[in-house]
Amino acid sequence: MIHISESITVRHNIHDVFRYVSDFSHIEQWDPGVIEAQKMTPGPVRPGSEFQLKCKFLCFSFSMNYRVARLEPPHLVVFEGRGKKFSAQDTISFHQAGNGTKIEYSLELTFEKVSSPMEKFVFFFTKRIAKAAIRGLAHAFEGNYRLPEIRLLDRWMDRSILPGMLTFSKYGYLWRKKSWNPLAVSLTGQTVLVTGATSGLGKITALRIARLGAKTIIVGRNSQKVDSVCREIREETGNARIRGEVADLSIKKDIRSLASRLDRQERNIHVLINNAGALYNHREETMDGIERSLALNLMGPFLLTSLLIPKLKSSAPSRIVNVSSGGMYTQKLVVHDLEYTKEPYNGENAYARAKRGLVILTKIWAEKYKEDGIVAHAMHPGWVATPGIRGSLPRFYKLTKSILRTPEQGADTIVWLAAAREVADTTGGFWFDRRPHIIDILPGTRTFPNEREQLLKELKRISEIEVAE
Ligand SMILES: NC(=O)c1ccc[n+]([C@@H]2O[C@H](COP(=O)([O-])OP(=O)(O)OC[C@H]3O[C@@H](n4cnc5c(N)ncnc54)[C@H](OP(=O)(O)O)[C@@H]3O)[C@@H](O)[C@H]2O)c1
Repeated sequence: MIHISESITVRHNIHDVFRYVSDFSHIEQWDPGVIEAQKMTPGPVRPGSEFQLKCKFLCFSFSMNYRVARLEPPHLVVFEGRGKKFSAQDTISFHQAGNGTKIEYSLELTFEKVSSPMEKFVFFFTKRIAKAAIRGLAHAFEGNYRLPEIRLLDRWMDRSILPGMLTFSKYGYLWRKKSWNPLAVSLTGQTVLVTGATSGLGKITALRIARLGAKTIIVGRNSQKVDSVCREIREETGNARIRGEVADLSIKKDIRSLASRLDRQERNIHVLINNAGALYNHREETMDGIERSLALNLMGPFLLTSLLIPKLKSSAPSRIVNVSSGGMYTQKLVVHDLEYTKEPYNGENAYARAKRGLVILTKIWAEKYKEDGIVAHAMHPGWVATPGIRGSLPRFYKLTKSILRTPEQGADTIVWLAAAREVADTTGGFWFDRRPHIIDILPGTRTFPNEREQLLKELKRISEIEVAE
């Protein structure tokens, strides 16, 4: 048997440290010996919860199944692991140390058959791996990571279009993920609102936000779906502070009454995630007489955010996260015809223009509200297998389904922008896979200052709102 023990002290409260460490699906963020970790049993982490780990040792990769054997929040968690020819017991205890937490980590490894010279060799490498893991855990809680910058390689890939587009697939995610820092933050005490949280990216975003401890407000247009997603997230995360709101976010009256309910009922909104969106293949108008793609993808986030600005200001520091699309690269914003009336309708183009508008709005809000403690981020999720993409682009879905990202992979940057410390003070960027990207690639797609002003003017007219300059 091999026995290794290490300890560290981190400057975080014991409850947050316990919650992060006892969920072994996070281990891939801090243990360099783990390539992938997944929670296999539903519900919050409890005795009996199981995890599957894909690990590496030197040049070998192997799987391990872990089970929570003991859980005594916030002081102790014991995991029992089984590999093909060995078993492991990880005992992790947590102790209050001043304002921080001391973590004591002990690992016992039992091999079915190891010769004595081999045992020395295995002990040597296992000790190194365990030390690297504990260093990784300390690094996860340091959290003073550098803000990612636009890299030359990304700029080149974006500009040369095809390589850039290939990173929209799951392979891009798997490649970029290797360089990411852990997300060991707690959102306890924060209120986060996610629109379009009844399906696809929004649903998994809300789940992950709730798992980080935030009070999570789910906004959807169908009350039954909203209720059932709230229930599902409460059961899965053990977070009771999940509530739903129903509103059609393409309809002005609905958006206004949602904003006034939120104003009355919520003391704070720290993060607003404008995720609801859709691509329509035929031109139709909403009951307000506004082309639907414009209404949902651009007017909706504009009106809702504008109405919630006083709340975001009083809750500062606060964040706005706008979910755009890589499709926006293909189109220029057409400010003199936002409603697509002057040329034959093309749903993909209408969607791309509205999503470009959302990126421009992000920049406008970033400049306007910087002094108020509100930051604004735009992002795109890549190509993600969601009900939305299946329904609106069936041929594209059929062709690409083997390389599409999972909703979890697509939602990663949304959650990161909502929660990570390193993006708390930066504003106005367009992010993909936790990196900032350029927004103008194709010739003729740039937006000029007069067009930005025109966009604002048009959105105020369409949504019938007076926004202070
Ligand atoms: N999937 C991708 O590859 C991809 C790529 C780029 C960008 N995006 C963007 O990511 C966001 C999420 O899309 P998704 O792929 O997750 O699509 P999805 O599965 O269809 O989810 C869209 C969400 O928006 C809600 N929604 C639609 N119309 C609404 C309305 N009028 N009022 C209120 N809520 C409404 C939907 O509600 P219901 O559940 O009631 O339908 C659902 O909760 C969208 O903004 C989309 O443009 C997705």
